[in-house]
Amino acid sequence: MKLKTRLIHAGEEEDLSTGAVTVPIYQVSTFKQETVDSNKGYDYSRAGNPTRAAVERYIANIEGAKYGYAFSSGLAALSTILMTFKAGDHFIVSNDVYGGTFRLLNQVFNRLNLTSTFVDATDQDKIRKEIRPNTKAVFIETPGNPLFKVIDINKLSKLTKENNLRLIVDNTFLTPYWQNPLDLGADIVFHSATKYLGGHSDVLAGVIAINDSQLAEEINLVQKAVGAVLGPQDSYLLLRGMKTLGIRMEEHEKNAREIAKWLDNHPKVKKVYYPGLKTHPGHELSKKQARGFGGILSFEIKEKERIDDILSRFKIFKLAVSLGAVESLVSVPAKMTHATLPKELQDELGISDGLIRISIGIEDVEDLIEDLEVALQ
Ligand SMILES: Cc1ncc(COP(=O)(O)O)c(C=O)c1O
Repeated sequence: MKLKTRLIHAGEEEDLSTGAVTVPIYQVSTFKQETVDSNKGYDYSRAGNPTRAAVERYIANIEGAKYGYAFSSGLAALSTILMTFKAGDHFIVSNDVYGGTFRLLNQVFNRLNLTSTFVDATDQDKIRKEIRPNTKAVFIETPGNPLFKVIDINKLSKLTKENNLRLIVDNTFLTPYWQNPLDLGADIVFHSATKYLGGHSDVLAGVIAINDSQLAEEINLVQKAVGAVLGPQDSYLLLRGMKTLGIRMEEHEKNAREIAKWLDNHPKVKKVYYPGLKTHPGHELSKKQARGFGGILSFEIKEKERIDDILSRFKIFKLAVSLGAVESLVSVPAKMTHATLPKELQDELGISDGLIRISIGIEDVEDLIEDLEVALQ
């Protein structure tokens, strides 16, 4: 079946008792067993719940994976992945990652002696140089956040396989609609499903997709043992959102391409970061490994002292963290999503006080451009 059909029907199982066409919300914590050794597939909702199971089948299907898992947030999903490693293990992480990922690794998992080295992962030599005897995985986000560096997943997967490392990819920005890292050689894909998968700014969720059965057992164990699982109501909202992923992604991207070009020619804008622009260093690679460029971009303004004034003028773009929903959002990474990065690292990476990130919604693009024009002028 083609992706657009799977986006509507993935994860479905016929409801034999009622014939319900969508998956009901099984708002239940425990399930009556037939005997101490047998049940109808479920015993306790931390271990498994039918609404969550539908999300898990769905994400596996659209990522082209054998196994899917759903969690209470993107960082809960990432924490579960990290908990399959042991104290003393080391990770190499792309330096253009979400600030919360940086904080989780550098302020929480480092206390459990899981250490991370952050590198510019667009340069594989830099990754190779950081591999130590205890390195166990390479973790990347591509396109990166908030500077949209594009990393060659397939090339990197060869390096990780040669060195017996796991390749973990955060696929939040492009979603399975545009990019399938498992097909390109990644071992683990995860998403903040709070973003495009949910798509409506009304649910926090995280998902994982994998193919390896041994890894599946480990993830399953941590999911059940720790319990950072997605509740039935949120599973339902996520399922409902994901059905329209395709048409939303097409609209987000159409608007983003037009806005990127417009900003690129704007006299008040110094630089635009969007892989869809031919001038972006990751443009050709993006075309090779993904089917689209996504709906988020960053730009740097020339007069950074005007930032508060600019932000106060938006009428449609809402000043808010997060991304990937139907409505347009604006944020300042240095002070918001990436505030947890030390200032020296922000400077080194180019996350300046004048860098604005916009998540472009599916409103009329002329209205969005007018909103940006009023703000910038
Ligand atoms: C790329 C990316 N990955 C992971 C996360 C964390 O996800 P959550 O907020 O659902 O925990 C975010 C959140 O902004 C994100 O943007």
